[in-house]
Amino acid sequence: MQRFSFKLNVIIITISAIILTMVGIYVGRLMDKDYISTISSHLTRESAVVSAAINSTNVLKDPTNQKLQDLVNQFAKPGGERITIVTAKGVVLADTEADPKTMENHSDRPEIREALSGGSGYSIRFSKTIGKEMIYVAHVLGKNKKNPIGVVRISLLASQINQNIHSMWYTLIAGMASILFITVIVSFLVSRQITRPIEEITMVADQIAHKKYQSRVHIRAEGEVGQLANSINYMAASLELQMNAIKENEQKLAGVLHNMVSGIILIGQSRRILLANSAIEVFLGYSEVELLGKLHIEAGMNFVLSQLIDRCFTTGDKIREEVHVYYPSERILDTNLAPYLTEHGEVKGVVVVLHDISAIRRLEKMRSEFVANVSHELKTPVTSIKGFAETLLDGAMEDKELLRNFLEIIYKESDRLHRLINDILDLSKIEQKRVPLHTIKFNLVELMHRIGQNLQEKVHSKKIDLILPNPDQRIELEGDHDRLQQVFTNLIDNALSYTPEKGTIQVVAEEKDGEIQISVMDNGIGIPEKELGRIFERFYRVDKGRSRNSGGTGLGLSIVKHLVESHHGHIHVESIEGKGSCFRVILPKSQT
Ligand SMILES: Nc1ncnc2c1ncn2[C@@H]1O[C@H](COP(=O)(O)OP(=O)(O)OP(=O)(O)O)[C@@H](O)[C@H]1O
Ligand SMILES: [Mg+2]
Repeated sequence: MQRFSFKLNVIIITISAIILTMVGIYVGRLMDKDYISTISSHLTRESAVVSAAINSTNVLKDPTNQKLQDLVNQFAKPGGERITIVTAKGVVLADTEADPKTMENHSDRPEIREALSGGSGYSIRFSKTIGKEMIYVAHVLGKNKKNPIGVVRISLLASQINQNIHSMWYTLIAGMASILFITVIVSFLVSRQITRPIEEITMVADQIAHKKYQSRVHIRAEGEVGQLANSINYMAASLELQMNAIKENEQKLAGVLHNMVSGIILIGQSRRILLANSAIEVFLGYSEVELLGKLHIEAGMNFVLSQLIDRCFTTGDKIREEVHVYYPSERILDTNLAPYLTEHGEVKGVVVVLHDISAIRRLEKMRSEFVANVSHELKTPVTSIKGFAETLLDGAMEDKELLRNFLEIIYKESDRLHRLINDILDLSKIEQKRVPLHTIKFNLVELMHRIGQNLQEKVHSKKIDLILPNPDQRIELEGDHDRLQQVFTNLIDNALSYTPEKGTIQVVAEEKDGEIQISVMDNGIGIPEKELGRIFERFYRVDKGRSRNSGGTGLGLSIVKHLVESHHGHIHVESIEGKGSCFRVILPKSQT
């Protein structure tokens, strides 16, 4: 802005200086001319007076010219004009500055020649007699102008006139300089007056351009500048409003996007990622910040997904497909792609919405597997019962001992069938959370000893050393007594089933930071490491043949896990194959 005021000043001052110089030169020239013409007319008048004085006397008749010399001397002022009397032939008769006898013939002098031909003459030139530049004015002598007897010439030192002209010029320049000085001051004041509001408006406009929408012009200016200031203020206010609305919308959008479970990616025309929400990181393993601005291919997205995006760009069609991703974890994503179009119908970008349907697919798979597993598990005892019943009907029942043996097998198999169906029903009830927990406070150590009692027969038959917590120890716990009995019976029963004879099983219960940790440890056959993650699955058994022989259904740990979780607890297993296993249940002390 300073540059604008500077420029304005330079323009005003330059124009003023040019005008003043031109006016000064014109006036000076005019004054020059006027002064010289005044001087020359004054000299002409004087020469006419001298000429009249000579004509009226008879001084010319004096052969010595002394009288003429005396007369002209009377007219000449000391230090003033020089008077010279010359004959028509150019002979100098008298002169107030030099001796006429020593002076050369003056017939060739321009002013004299002019006067002789026209009555008067004028010239400015260098005087050989005086050795300086002079102004000469000449006037004829004699009554008959057509036949003059001589010429009266009056001259003045040009330097004297020049001095006057110079002092006139100095005065003129001083006047002009004063005017210019005043112009400079006025120019500074005026330009400041003009540029100050513009400066402020520019500053505010600049601030608005730098997103400071709250800044306003505070000057009070009239006319166009005032209108401009008002317009800028109006523009700033409306921009501020619009920006606030945009910010609010952005916040709403960000809030929605951020809290969405589905992953969203927006890809622009340049195939670069313009927007991504936080859920994307879970699906694709890259955070929004890592993805933003990158090409969708180089952003490490799934190859199939990238291909779908490209297809959506080329066809402009909506696409829905299931995509399998393996990083950061294996997932099945329901992928929806939709183009967003420009006014002219061109594809401007693509919106990708990802839903994780792994759980749905897993459930579907589990359901079909469950049906297959249940049928398979039911088939074995049913086939067995059917087989033995058929054999009996075919005549084996006649043999009393065979009849008894077969009936015992049928009873055992139907019992297994009964347990299996009960377990399945139990599990489905627990899974659907249809089993309400009857929570009471009880002593966990007492429960362990009751379970020990119940399993005593199996313990004795396998000669197992079952070490239970000290009966004097009291561990208060809030939970469903019967359901927790089911949990620990299952765990201790498993330990008994999968520990060879004369093995040791130890149950330890301890209280830690408001939680109770119960460990069931055995030195039995253990579980191979690769199977550890699966033993809590329904129907999962490490050694299917042996487990089935021992009457196992593979549902026990599944039920245990669900019951522990419905008590807001969790269960872990550690095991070394051939050395033993440790099942650790952690339960909160109270359920509230
Ligand atoms: N303490 C243990 N030591 C070694 N293997 C075990 C132990 N506990 C469980 N397992 C393994 O985990 C599998 C699943 O156990 P789970 O209790 O669910 O089924 P199960 O004992 O076979 O049948 P049931 O449903 O009658 O309990 C077992 O088949 C067994 O292979
Ligand atoms: Mg079991």
